[in-house]
Amino acid sequence: MANTEMATVEDRATHPPLCRPSGVFLNVGIVGAGIAGLAAAAALSRIGHNVELYERSQFSNEVGAAINLGPNAGPVLEALGFDHERARTMSVAEGIQYEASTLKETYHGNYEHFEYQYGAPWFFVHRVDLHNELKTLALAPSDGFPAVKLNLSTPVVDVNCEAGTLTLADGSTVRKDVIIGADGVHSIVAHRVLGKDIPAASVGECAFRFLIPTETLLQNETTRPLFSGKKTALNIAATCDRRLIWYPCRNGDIQNFVALHPAKDDNKDDEDWQADGKIEDLIQTFEKFHPSLVEVCRNAQDLKLWKLLYRAPIRQWSKGKVIIIGDAAHPMLPHQGQGGNQAIEDAGALAMLLSELQSLEDVPRRLELVQNIRRDRAGAMQILSNAGQDEAHRVEKDAMAYVHGPIPSNLRASEWMRH
Ligand SMILES: *[C@@H]1O[C@H](CO)[C@@H](O)[C@H](O)[C@H]1NC(C)=O
Ligand SMILES: *[C@@H]1O[C@H](CO)[C@@H](O)[C@H](O)[C@H]1NC(C)=O
Repeated sequence: MANTEMATVEDRATHPPLCRPSGVFLNVGIVGAGIAGLAAAAALSRIGHNVELYERSQFSNEVGAAINLGPNAGPVLEALGFDHERARTMSVAEGIQYEASTLKETYHGNYEHFEYQYGAPWFFVHRVDLHNELKTLALAPSDGFPAVKLNLSTPVVDVNCEAGTLTLADGSTVRKDVIIGADGVHSIVAHRVLGKDIPAASVGECAFRFLIPTETLLQNETTRPLFSGKKTALNIAATCDRRLIWYPCRNGDIQNFVALHPAKDDNKDDEDWQADGKIEDLIQTFEKFHPSLVEVCRNAQDLKLWKLLYRAPIRQWSKGKVIIIGDAAHPMLPHQGQGGNQAIEDAGALAMLLSELQSLEDVPRRLELVQNIRRDRAGAMQILSNAGQDEAHRVEKDAMAYVHGPIPSNLRASEWMRH
């Protein structure tokens, strides 16, 4: 019996390596210390590379919202030694859809088999907790290799792809063997790689985002039944053009809400996803929803309004010694909860392909391989992310252009969570 038992926690105490540290160790500069930059830094430092991160902010404006960690991020996070307890993640047990005005269930799915079927559970995590855990992993020295250096308040203003140099705000330049642009949707590095901006188009939709302490919602008799004694679930209440999505994070202490609705024509907000929203607008937009959901809206804290912009997939991610990853390469809408996961997949691919290098000359080719391996999958995910998890039929045909080999039986999110 002993040999056929499933692996125990002890067996997995040493994390599977992303690859063996050997060959040429590189000086790596990473622009941007968000989820993509920190995950790449943690992965590359673990295999012996000398990593320096340049972050324009002081980390004082970390964004409060929760995100999904799908099973597809699991193997990379495990290899990094990701601590779910420290990050207060919650594994998702079910998905429920409701008719918005009556709260009548229209779909109820169980997701507890994900670990068995896809190799890892699906988790909810507060973005700040994910960020902190990745930072802890990146800054912890591993196996005698140099710890990642993190430079805050250090904007990078220019990049030279062929020379491998970064220009900082004070005019000084730094030379690296590899430069990774993880500088988000308004990426300077992407502009240098492509030689132009990537155009963005409105999809005619906006999202309010807000958080509410679960305790607040349990105290009010109108909202209590929605949150009392529930399993960890992804909840969607929908009408034909509005969707209120909610799920818990931070060990259940906080409920995270995303409220999608048609953009008004007079909405001149740009793509700033930190713009403040007005609570009256939120309540008015969702006034036809069930009274308990309207009451939820009344309790919204730290309300943000975000105009959803779509960028088409790009073919070029790398040039010379430089590659872009994360939102800099493949920004996506929130519908599939895959933005962070795709960034983490990028970090895993980089660590695999920047190992066992024989010479510095190999760097551009290896970066091109990362691009070639990742771009179709991320491109398909960008297109799938234009529709909700229950609306894949709307985008299926466009996404197929990026799918090679056997066509999946359906394009529900779960199909894309395989790794
Ligand atoms: C970045 O931080 C390291 C120490 O962590 C320091 O040695 C280096 O000079 C800093 N670089 C810049 C550009 O501030
Ligand atoms: C709680 O529920 C009651 C009854 O629905 C409502 O009148 C009240 O404004 C709610 N909010 C708070 C914060 O008590």
